[in-house]
Order: sequence, then structure tokens, then C-alpha cells
Amino acid sequence: MSIRNPVAFGASAVLALALSVTAVSAAESLIDVPSSVCQTCHKEIYKQWEGSMHANSVAMKDPIHGTFYKKVIGDPLQAGVTTKDGKFPVCIQCHAPNAAIQNSTKLDEKPTYSEGVNCVACHTLKRFNGINGPNGKLQLGMLSYERSSGLQGPAGFPVGLQKLATATDMFGGAGAGDGGDKPNPHLGEPVTMDGTEIPALPMEPNATLMKTNDACMGCHDKRNNSHGVPLCATGNEYMASKSDVTCQYCHMPMVGNTADHSMGGGHDGGMLKRSVVFTMRAEKAGETIDVVAKLKNQQPHALPTGAPFRNIVLKLTAYNANGEPVWENAPEHPAQDDPQAYFAYLLADDAGKDAMPPTATQLGADTRLRPHEERTLSYEIPAKDVALVRGEVQYNLLWKVLADKFGHLPEGLRSSRTIAVAEAKI
Ligand code: HEC
Ligand code: HEC
Ligand code: HEC
Ligand code: HEC
Ligand code: HEC
Repeated sequence: MSIRNPVAFGASAVLALALSVTAVSAAESLIDVPSSVCQTCHKEIYKQWEGSMHANSVAMKDPIHGTFYKKVIGDPLQAGVTTKDGKFPVCIQCHAPNAAIQNSTKLDEKPTYSEGVNCVACHTLKRFNGINGPNGKLQLGMLSYERSSGLQGPAGFPVGLQKLATATDMFGGAGAGDGGDKPNPHLGEPVTMDGTEIPALPMEPNATLMKTNDACMGCHDKRNNSHGVPLCATGNEYMASKSDVTCQYCHMPMVGNTADHSMGGGHDGGMLKRSVVFTMRAEKAGETIDVVAKLKNQQPHALPTGAPFRNIVLKLTAYNANGEPVWENAPEHPAQDDPQAYFAYLLADDAGKDAMPPTATQLGADTRLRPHEERTLSYEIPAKDVALVRGEVQYNLLWKVLADKFGHLPEGLRSSRTIAVAEAKI
């Protein structure tokens, strides 16, 4: 834990420093433990995490974040970078938490910095203090947490007497999916695994944090731009929904005997497919076809949630018997052609015109599906020649203006992904 970062230096850390200098230096070294060390035993979890956006959250690895970071903040490989008003770049508090703890903006300085949200970043979070600081300012990402000198585990890892004669031990071997018994470095002593020396990785039980939304909210609750306009607000949306289904329940489902660490969202086709119930009814009534399309958000947060430029469009097409389109709800883009079919979170400038996240001074229209909302869209389509009506729900990571502008991004990040389809034969 760095003394240069007074805000992260919570009350319990001060106490720990007073009681034991070794505990604090252990924390210093734990946050420098790269995920490859954990991989030695937790192979399956490592693989899931490695492919997640958590492992790819730094500006050098996530091309969308990187584009904004370079525009708003600067070079991610340079030390001592500050914002225009001389502050430590807030992005790092969430996108490169281990660098934030050590006050570094040179994000390739240590493997644990460029690993982004890695094993130890999450597994040393001890207590969530909320994102509203005492001075009325937001304390975001790592600033909202007290951290520990030991790893935090969800299941109530035994840290007292290891040799209780009557207890059943659920902690033999690192996870069913990982196969076989493994030596356990979490009991406080170094171990050897396949010839590799593993340092002591002491573990503390912390179901209160690890099994609840507290493990996520510091980074996922809400973030404002410098004008106070909320950019991402997944946690706020969730709290307004009064749901008590945890984030882990959906984002870390149990696969076999382990909690899945893939944590998919907008980049994950599988999660997106399951996010919406899309149904469509079409009935011919004389010269027209009455179409009723329904979209139901399955989540206790908005759909789409997260970064403001996420958006969904409904494309409705009527085909003739030869499979040729004869009618479309939005030949160009629904933002102009059919606003009810555009589900987006828009930001605006003082004049009310569309604005980018860093410069927005107010919210624009928010037409996303609210938590658990079902939206009904009605259409009257000219019936002439129509043999089939097809609806496609398409997810976009970026507003169209950004997808067009950011030609340097990989095609997969700029193009639409179809997440649900419904057809009606006429
Ligand atoms: C030498 C092998 C080994 C290494 C390396 C290792 N672990 Fe473990 N880990 C184990 C074993 C064995 C268990 C107990 C069985 C289980 O729960 O899978 C365990 C359990 C855990 C648990 C579950 C605790 C609970 O309360 O349920 C967490 C969390 C964990 N390890 C995190 C880590 C992290 C983070 C790292 C890297 C900093 C790491 N481990 C490195 C062997 C290892
Ligand atoms: C974004 C935060 C986050 C990251 C990153 C993360 N974990 Fe976890 N991990 C959790 C949470 C939360 C749980 C508890 C899930 C539950 O029990 O509900 C957990 C549970 C575990 C467990 C217990 C397994 C089980 O099925 O109960 C192990 C072992 C573990 N993590 C190891 C790792 C390793 C190794 C890495 C890095 C490769 C890692 N974690 C990265 C948040 C994280
Ligand atoms: C230390 C901060 C931090 C914590 C704690 C954290 N996350 Fe994240 N999470 C991030 C960042 C940063 C990203 C965005 C990475 C990017 O796109 O560049 C992210 C991305 C995600 C995504 C989006 C993936 C996608 O496909 O776009 C999901 C889902 C997610 N996190 C779920 C969780 C859950 C569930 C928890 C709690 C168990 C959690 N996170 C805890 C920082 C964090
Ligand atoms: C009922 C299941 C469910 C629960 C509970 C849930 N989510 Fe999600 N989440 C999803 C699905 C499905 C998606 C993909 C569709 C979307 O973006 O809304 C998603 C998307 C996301 C994303 C991706 C945003 C992006 O920009 O790509 C984040 C971040 C996220 N959720 C965080 C959370 C957090 C934090 C919680 C707890 C407060 C939570 N979710 C609770 C199912 C759930
Ligand atoms: C409070 C934590 C937090 C802070 C501070 C933060 N972000 Fe993020 N950011 C996230 C999370 C979580 C996600 C992914 C889920 C989502 O979209 O909400 C994300 C996603 C993004 C994305 C979308 C990435 C993608 O793959 O599509 C961009 C761009 C981004 N952030 C830029 C920034 C910039 C630039 C800053 C600093 C000016 C910043 N963020 C500060 C938490 C944060």
C-alpha cells in the first residue's frame, strides 16, 4: 500500500501499520503478484479471466478505451501524466487498479499494471465504502475500497486451527475444474507446484464482500464526466430496480464447482443473446399488415447498460416470396427513420445537440429499456407482395457516428451483432 496515496489509506490500514509493519509490506508484495502465479493452480479460472474485458481493460489492450484514454488523458506508457487540472487520471482507478494503488501512470511498468483488473486487484478488496466520499465528491474504483494484506475468499477459508479433528475440509485441491490435489499456498506458507516456487498467499474469509454486489460496485456503480454528467451508471440503474439478484448470479454463474470468471457483457455474444426476450406478431388486415413487436429486458439494469455509446436497434424488414426486401422500418438508421426502434443513451451539449462523453454538459434522450421493462412497438406495413416479416435486434458497442469515425478499430468492434430474431409468415 502506498503512502503517497492518502485516500486509499483507510482507517484499518492505519491500524494495521500501527500494529504490524510486516502486514503492510505483505500487502505491497501481494499486489505485485501477477496472475500467472495464480494460473499455476487455478488454470480454468485463469483462462476465463484472460479472455475477459477485465484482463483487457488497460488503454494498451482495449482499443475502444485506449482511443478515449489517449484523447482525454495522454500516453498510457508515460510516467507522471496528469489531467489538465493537475490530477491523477481517474480512469486508472478502475481500468488499471494496481497502477492506481501505486500512483503510477506508466501502465507497462509492472505486469500487474498492464493486467488491468487482475486476480489480486479483486481478491484484495476488503470493504466497500460506497462511491460517495465524505466531501460530497465521488470516490471511484480503488478509492471506494479498503484493501487487505491478505487475499479475500468467498467461501470462508479456514484461517484458525488447520487441524480441527471434527471438521470436514472443503478446501482440498484447487477447484474441481482444475483437476487433482494442489498444495495450498493460502495457509500462509510458501509451497512448490510443478517445480515452481509459490510465495505464501495468505487468505482471509470475506463472504460479505466477495458474494455480494460490493465486489463490483466500486467500479460499476456510476461515473460522471468532469461536467457531472453520468456516463456509466449500471449500479445506479440496478439499485433503482430494487432487485436483490446479485451481479455474480448472472455474471459469475457456477460452472461445475467454480464461479465462472469470464464476466461477459457487451463484448460477449452469449450474454447478449440471453439479455432480451424478443417476440413478434404480424396479422394481415386488408391492405396492411399489423405488426406488434415486443422487447423485454431480462436484467435488473438497463438494456443496454454500461458505456453511454452502447445501443440497440430493431430492424424490421418485409420480404416478398423471392426473399427480396419490399419494406424496411429504417433504410438508413432508426435514429432518423424510426426513433422508437432505437434504444440508446444520448449525451448533449449546452445547446442540446449530441455530444461526446468527455464534453457533454447534460443528458440527452435515454430510450434504453429500463430494468425489466417490456416495450411494445407497433407498425402498419403495406401488405402488397409481402410473404414474410422479419425482425432483428442488433447490438452495437458504439454509436454509429463513432463506429464511422474510429476507422482504426477492428471491424468486430464497429459492426452490429444480431442478438435476437423473430419471423412471421404472412
Ligand atoms: C500452489 C497452488 C495455488 C496457487 C499458486 C494459488 N492457489 Fe488459490 N487455492 C489453491 C487451493 C488448493 C485452494 C483450495 C481449494 C479451492 O478452493 O479450490 C485455493 C483456493 C483459492 C480461493 C478460494 C478461497 C475461498 O474462500 O473459497 C481463492 C479466492 C484463491 N485460491 C485465489 C488465488 C489467487 C488470487 C491466487 C494468485 C495470487 C492463487 N489463488 C494462487 C491453490 C493455489
Ligand atoms: C472482477 C473481480 C475478480 C477478478 C478479476 C478475479 N476474481 Fe476470483 N472471484 C471474484 C468473486 C466476486 C468471487 C466469488 C464468487 C462467488 O462465490 O459468488 C471469486 C471467486 C474466486 C475463487 C473461488 C472459486 C469458487 O468457485 O468459489 C477462486 C479460486 C478465484 N476467484 C480465483 C481467481 C483467480 C485465480 C483470478 C485471476 C485469474 C481471479 N479470481 C480474478 C472476483 C474476481
Ligand atoms: C477494480 C475495478 C473493477 C471491479 C472491482 C469490477 N470490475 Fe467489471 N470491469 C471493470 C472495467 C474497467 C471494465 C471495462 C473494461 C473495458 O471494457 O475496457 C469492466 C468490465 C466488466 C464487464 C463488461 C464486459 C464486456 O463484455 O464489456 C462486466 C460484465 C463486468 N465488468 C462485471 C463485473 C462484476 C460482476 C464484478 C464484480 C464481481 C466486477 N465487474 C468488478 C472494472 C471492475
Ligand atoms: C439477471 C442477470 C443479470 C444481473 C443480475 C446483472 N447483470 Fe449485468 N448484464 C446481464 C446481461 C444479459 C448483459 C448483456 C446485456 C446488456 O448489456 O445489458 C449484462 C451486461 C452488463 C455489463 C456490460 C456493459 C457494457 O458496456 O458492455 C456490465 C458492466 C454489467 N452487466 C454489470 C452488472 C453489475 C455490476 C451487476 C450487479 C449490480 C449486474 N450486471 C447484474 C445480466 C445481468
Ligand atoms: C468508476 C470506474 C471507472 C472509471 C473512473 C473510468 N471507467 Fe471506463 N469503464 C469502466 C467500466 C466498469 C467499463 C465497462 C463496462 C461499462 O461499459 O460500463 C468501462 C468502459 C469504458 C469504455 C468502453 C470500452 C469498450 O471496450 O467499449 C471506455 C471508452 C472507457 N471506459 C473510457 C474511460 C476513460 C477515458 C476514463 C477516464 C477519463 C474512464 N473510462 C474512467 C469503469 C470506469
